[in-house]
Amino acid sequence: MTDRYAVIGRPIGHSLSPRIHAAFAEASGQSLRYDALEAEAFAPAADEFFAAGGRGLNVTVPFKADAWEWVDERDEAAGCGAVNTILPREGRTVGSNTDGIGLVRDLTANLGWRLAGARVLILGAGGAVQGIVPALQESGAADLMIANRTRAKALALGRRFGVAAGGLNEAGNGWDIVLNGTAASLAGDGAVVAPAVVADARCYDLFYAVNGATPFCRWAAAHGAAAASDGLGMLVEQAAEAFQLWRNVRPETAGVLAKLRRGD
Ligand code: ATR
Repeated sequence: MTDRYAVIGRPIGHSLSPRIHAAFAEASGQSLRYDALEAEAFAPAADEFFAAGGRGLNVTVPFKADAWEWVDERDEAAGCGAVNTILPREGRTVGSNTDGIGLVRDLTANLGWRLAGARVLILGAGGAVQGIVPALQESGAADLMIANRTRAKALALGRRFGVAAGGLNEAGNGWDIVLNGTAASLAGDGAVVAPAVVADARCYDLFYAVNGATPFCRWAAAHGAAAASDGLGMLVEQAAEAFQLWRNVRPETAGVLAKLRRGD
């Protein structure tokens, strides 16, 4: 029987993950099946998937915290409360999080941005941000701050990870890298902070737009950002990390990313 994998979320119809994993499988000569599963609730769907012999799950919005609760064990990357990758091991399920390492790989290996010694501002304090803080802390960034519309949420996350935090109006300036993890851009509004915050900074949106730049990238570029990138590369890199956890094979990512960018 072909090994089965899937991404589970709601909604899931537009997920690129099945295409990305199919491309990895083809390029590395692996035979597998990867589906997109839409679920009302996480636990029953995950129970059913693994009971039927599923070999690995990716988890996306809105289930990453549910997945963290559901797994039998968690590795260090999942320690933050958000799981995006699950693998069965000796009859138990292990939760991991490949979003943070995927982001770091895209920033450094693909985009060539320096994280070591960099001053990094993170906008937002929701699930997207929770998953990336540990990897950024390990990346050698000199200065990390979380700024969020609801200040109390930023402070709570900041305390948990031991990083500076505040409201969006306390974001300051002089950042080397500004990461957008707020949903504002998804809703079409790129102006999350005062323009001075992004001036001369390299700006990165954790979300992506297949047709052109995201609102945050467009807004940042128009307000003096040194560079602006969306999160399509992070999506491909987090998928590659998951593929490696499941298959023990490191897939090549550049060709897949270029293909998605072309809209093939
Ligand atoms: P996710 O789990 O996908 O991150 P979430 O938990 O709802 O989703 O978080 C969304 C993030 O976007 C939050 O940081 C939210 O700020 P609040 O904590 O103040 O709600 C932020 N956000 C959403 N709309 C925003 C807007 N218009 N301006 C600024 N921040 C916004």
